[in-house]
Amino acid sequence: MFFKWSGDFFRGPEKNIKQHNNMEKFEEKKFDIGELKGISAKNIEEHLKLYAGYVKNANTVVEKISALSAEFFGKNIDNSYLIAELFRRFSFEYNGMRNHEVYFSSLSGGAKSLNPESELAKKLVETCQSVEIFLMGFKNIALTRGVGWAVLWYDKKDKRLIASWVDEQHLGQLNGCEMILALDMWEHAYVYDYPTSEKKKYIEAFFENLNWEVIEENFKQAL
Ligand SMILES: [Fe+2]
Repeated sequence: MFFKWSGDFFRGPEKNIKQHNNMEKFEEKKFDIGELKGISAKNIEEHLKLYAGYVKNANTVVEKISALSAEFFGKNIDNSYLIAELFRRFSFEYNGMRNHEVYFSSLSGGAKSLNPESELAKKLVETCQSVEIFLMGFKNIALTRGVGWAVLWYDKKDKRLIASWVDEQHLGQLNGCEMILALDMWEHAYVYDYPTSEKKKYIEAFFENLNWEVIEENFKQAL
């Protein structure tokens, strides 16, 4: 796990809490997002606040687990149910943080089109026959009812691209697959710009502003 559970952990709660306080925390990333077409600065600003909340809460969950675990081991207080629920919650906050980092990175640096000679473009064509067909399918996934994410993954084991839907932030994340492209379909991602009945317009705006160079690089890193 992410805690430094060394032998010191079992020597007492005070020492462990001190040790935890010296731990590296998850850090909020900064993004170079300029003016976008069809997605307002206000919406991005509010959305970034939500992202900051995921970073903060991921750290909070870790801190609380550490403190409660110290009580559990140090004073033999049975708070295992609380600890278990925090562990259950961790993947929501952690993936909420990481999903948004992929999303905001992909809107950073200005819109750039997909290079048809790139490894990613070739793989998309190999997988879907054409980039246009891939986009049609991906946008259709993005229209899934409920809040969550449309995601393009690279499955390193089978060396193939997979597109899928992630509910909320964490339900449906694919084990061992690298996230290449992530489209946030929570209503907060577009609520300042479009009514929920017009989320198709937000999907189009996302692709209009997408920096494909970032996505190509994500794919290269995954390879
Ligand atoms: Fe979001």
